[in-house]
Amino acid sequence: MNEKIELIKDGKRLDGRRFDEIRDISMKVGVLKKASGSAYIEWGKNKVLAGVYGPRELHPKFLQNPTRALLRCTYNLAPFSVDDRKKPGPDRRSVEISKVTAEALESVVMVERYPNTVIDVFMEVLQADAGTRCVGLTAASLALADAGIPMKDLVSACAAGKVDGEIVVDLMKEEDNYGECDLPLAVIPRKNEVVLLQMDGKLTREEFDKTYRLALNGAMKVYEMQKETLKARIEHIMGEDNGY
Ligand code: CDP
Repeated sequence: MNEKIELIKDGKRLDGRRFDEIRDISMKVGVLKKASGSAYIEWGKNKVLAGVYGPRELHPKFLQNPTRALLRCTYNLAPFSVDDRKKPGPDRRSVEISKVTAEALESVVMVERYPNTVIDVFMEVLQADAGTRCVGLTAASLALADAGIPMKDLVSACAAGKVDGEIVVDLMKEEDNYGECDLPLAVIPRKNEVVLLQMDGKLTREEFDKTYRLALNGAMKVYEMQKETLKARIEHIMGEDNGY
C-alpha cells in the first residue's frame, strides 16, 4: 500500500468532497433491546454499533471503588470490517483505542454517582473506512445517554488532517492511508474542552491550527446531529405511535 495515488484533483477530494466537508452521517439510538443503552452510526462507509451495560456491581470485588464507577470501554474491529481479514480478538490498536475512549468519556459521565459499579461500553466496528475511533466515541456517548446515565454533556468527535499538502476534514480510508497526517479530536462541546487529541504524521504550527479548527468544526456538526437523534428518540418514546 505504499505506491502514491493522487488524492486531490481539481480542488476536489477522491469522493468529490470539499476540503471542509464531512462525510454523510446517520445516527440511531435504542437499537438493541437487551442493552441498557445503544447507538448505531453510519458515517461515510463506517458502520459502528455501541452498546452499554450497567451500572452494575463490579466483580471481582477488589476492583471496586467506593467513590466511583469504573467506566470500561471495549473497542473491537470485526474480522470482516476491513479488506484484509482482521484476526479476531484484542490487539495493541484496539487496547489503545479502548483506553483513550474511556478517558474521554470519563470527563462527562458522572461516575461518582455509582460507587462500586462498572459501566461497560462496547463499540463494535462492523465496517471500517478510517476515523473509526471518532465514530466509536460518538456512538458510545449516544449509547450512554440512551442508557439514561447522568452526563455533563455529550462527547463529539471528528478528525482532520493533511492530504496532498491540503488541510481537509474527516479523512476517509485512502486519505488516511496515503495522506501526510491524521488528527482525531473529541470535545465536550458545551465547554469547548478537548478530551481526545491524537496525531499521526507531521504538521507545522500553522497547519496544526488549521487542522484543529476543521476537526473542531466537524465535531460541532456531529454534536448537533447527536442532539437531534436523542430528541427524536424521546419524541418517539413520548409519542402515541410507539407501539405500547
Ligand atoms: O479508524 P481510525 O482512523 O480511528 O484508526 P486508524 O488506526 O488510523 O485506522 C485507519 C483505518 O485503517 C481504519 O478505519 C480501517 O479502515 C483501516 N484498518 C485496517 O484496514 N485494518 C486494521 N487492522 C486496522 C485498521
